[in-house]
Amino acid sequence: MAARDSQFPKLDVREATKVYHTRSGDLLAIDRCSLAVEEGEIVSIVGPSGSGKTTLLWSMSGLHHLTSGEIALDGQRVDGPHPDISMVFQDANLLPWRTIVANIRFPFEIKGAKPDTAWIDQLMHRVGLEGFGQRMPRELSGGMQQRVALVRALSFKPSVLLMDEPFGALDAFTREEMNHLIEEIYLDTRTTIVLVTHSIDEAIFLSDRIVVMSARPGRIANIHRVPFERPRSLEIMGTKEVFDLTHTIKSEIVGDQISKARNRKNAANLSKAS
Ligand SMILES: Nc1ncnc2c1ncn2[C@@H]1O[C@H](COP(=O)(O)OP(=O)(O)OP(=O)(O)O)[C@@H](O)[C@H]1O
Ligand SMILES: [Mg+2]
Repeated sequence: MAARDSQFPKLDVREATKVYHTRSGDLLAIDRCSLAVEEGEIVSIVGPSGSGKTTLLWSMSGLHHLTSGEIALDGQRVDGPHPDISMVFQDANLLPWRTIVANIRFPFEIKGAKPDTAWIDQLMHRVGLEGFGQRMPRELSGGMQQRVALVRALSFKPSVLLMDEPFGALDAFTREEMNHLIEEIYLDTRTTIVLVTHSIDEAIFLSDRIVVMSARPGRIANIHRVPFERPRSLEIMGTKEVFDLTHTIKSEIVGDQISKARNRKNAANLSKAS
């Protein structure tokens, strides 16, 4: 990781706006979203389906061009895929005909770069996959495949890790295990993490701050700070503080959905009446 100028946030989202041009017209997916993610922070993004969480995350990766606004990493504008930013998706996206190790090496082959095999071995050990390198993806469970995706994303030693519902397809226990794993890796590497999730529990367990998006067009409705020290134990999840925070975030998400649905219904009734 290169030395950085700490006067800038690690990742700075400035007035990010994205309009999709579709056959049925233009769709404003995110509208002037601004967020400064500090180095070593874990930030989660939650919000109703369609509120632009994925759009915002992809924009942060440089994979999506914004209609207006900009993203900066360490003060430098991000205009395309960046070697310091890695992504993990809901699906592990492993190539079924390649072994686990060959899958992890694949992006290096494409870039013509040399993988740091000692680091990859260390990561495989960290996620409990030591000895699985020569297996095929079909021989691994969903949770194990997602661990491989995590190793692949971290193999580049990124300074920012973006994750879009990485554990959404896993059962509740495996998901909790993965949350502990992410926390452990974070405590080792202090990688800056931005995570999109539908699970408020997951967001609270992992994050320093939780960003709540409002229903379309996606805007940042609120940002909550999560005050617990790390490592966090599952016991915090039963505290009144967590109960209250969960309730507040749920009301913000559901309340927003209900009021926008009512507005749509009223508008439809008005147009019928006129
Ligand atoms: N490639 C695309 N082309 C056109 N419209 C898109 C495209 N991607 C997303 N959208 C639209 O933009 C809006 C925001 O989508 P996005 O996927 O960012 O939401 P999300 O919050 O991630 O939703 P979910 O929680 O369901 O994953 C939605 O209305 C969606 O239909
Ligand atoms: Mg999404």
